[in-house]
Amino acid sequence: MKITTASGIPVADNQNSLTAGPRGPVLLQDFHLIEKLQHFNRERIPERVVHAKGSGAYGTFTVTHDITKYSKARLFAEVGKQTETFLRFSTVGGEKGSADTERDPRGFAVRFYTEEGNWDLVGNNTPVFFLKDGIKFPDFIHTQKRDPQTNLKSPTAMFDFWSRTPESLHQVTTLFSSRGTPDGYRHMHGFGSHTYSLINAAGERVYVKWHFLTQQGIKNLSAEEATRIAGTDPDYAQRDLFTAIAGGDFPRWDVKVQVATEAELAAWEARTGWNPFDLTKVWPHADFPLLPVGVLELNRNPVNYHAEVEQAALSPSNVVPGMGYSPDKMLQARLFAYHDAQLYRVGTNHQHLPVNAPRCPFHNQQRDGAMAGANGGAAVNYDPVQAQGSNPHGMGHGEPPLALDGAAGRYDGRGKEDDYTQAGNLFRLMPAAEQQNLFNNIAGPLSQVNIEIIERQLAHFDQADPAYGAGVRAALKARGVNLA
Ligand code: HEM
Repeated sequence: MKITTASGIPVADNQNSLTAGPRGPVLLQDFHLIEKLQHFNRERIPERVVHAKGSGAYGTFTVTHDITKYSKARLFAEVGKQTETFLRFSTVGGEKGSADTERDPRGFAVRFYTEEGNWDLVGNNTPVFFLKDGIKFPDFIHTQKRDPQTNLKSPTAMFDFWSRTPESLHQVTTLFSSRGTPDGYRHMHGFGSHTYSLINAAGERVYVKWHFLTQQGIKNLSAEEATRIAGTDPDYAQRDLFTAIAGGDFPRWDVKVQVATEAELAAWEARTGWNPFDLTKVWPHADFPLLPVGVLELNRNPVNYHAEVEQAALSPSNVVPGMGYSPDKMLQARLFAYHDAQLYRVGTNHQHLPVNAPRCPFHNQQRDGAMAGANGGAAVNYDPVQAQGSNPHGMGHGEPPLALDGAAGRYDGRGKEDDYTQAGNLFRLMPAAEQQNLFNNIAGPLSQVNIEIIERQLAHFDQADPAYGAGVRAALKARGVNLA
């Protein structure tokens, strides 16, 4: 294949610059050299502010069970129906070149290219999160990234923040369990985490939580293995995923939902005291059983990492007719954050890129801006208009009105809400060996922190379960920490 410039002009020589005499200097008119250097200087786009290191693959979602009584979304229309998908896995706190085996939640961001637009479920491998209010997210992430002066990761910042943020305890317990270091991306579950809603053809709403249960089985790395692999094969999870798919060993997840009506959630909240829209809480399976929906299979590797994975731009605000959001405060902040980040990271017209463009016909009045692709062609660029495809009566999808109560204000639930029982329940579910892992995994970084922060964090473990606090204390003492 002949090399050309980006404008298609055959390149005369790609090995020798155009020089005055055999020793140079180089001539400004070597446009090919200049274009080559200029483009190279612009090869990087900003990495994602979080979840910078990741791996992606395409796949297929197949409906196995009928949920049309809950949602009229077309992708669920009949059993056997298939929808093309894209999934990006990631770690959270590390940079684009960081090790895949770091202790961190894993991102599990799925896009369904439905016939009524892209549905993005941007979740993690954990059913809960560290926070219940998005106003704390930038501060929390600063504790996970590098210290402004030392440019080092800071256990002090992490535990200072967590110890002052009791609602983080549930997720902290997951993070320091063996699930904090999954063995690649194929051997972990995925969760939508937030409560979303589904809306059926009659305009009735139910609330849901999405679960993706790995058919490969859960496999985790021990802390020692994870550390060793970080040094010997930092791209371990990328390699594992790509190799498996290239070899025809397609990973699969059973897709399930927990479903509840508004009245059922109100009764559950009255009984348990837990806000069903609080992202630091699970809905226990005993109260809301998992219902099967379908199977997600990953079966195609991207051809070009930068174009298809680095430039992928998924957003929790992308839900299709037959679905909706919920009053979860964290979700509300995320509905704004993603598209805004992508306007900066990828550009105004990031939705024109092949990995981001819907697979169905789309039509709106957005035009122009840098890198506009088809740019709407000759179609009318205003609305309402007497033209086919216009929506003179608005975009209602039959979503029922959402009843709200209370006056606008800043409500601080701290100290009044129960941040301990579910964290304690998770701890009590763990077999003894797993509890011991948890103690050791926590004691590693916690032992590097000042005593005031240690005591404040220990008080949270104690409240979740006295055995939890006692176990971490013993592991800290074994590391030479002097405790009262
Ligand atoms: C209010 C809280 C949050 C804010 C403001 C926030 C913000 C962001 C931003 C700005 C990005 C980068 C987007 C991009 O450049 O494409 C991102 C990525 C991501 N976030 Fe969040 N986030 C929040 C909470 C969460 C939660 C609770 C989860 C999971 C349950 C989550 C999962 C992810 C994932 C998986 C990605 C990577 C998406 C991909 O693979 O492209 N985030 N987040």
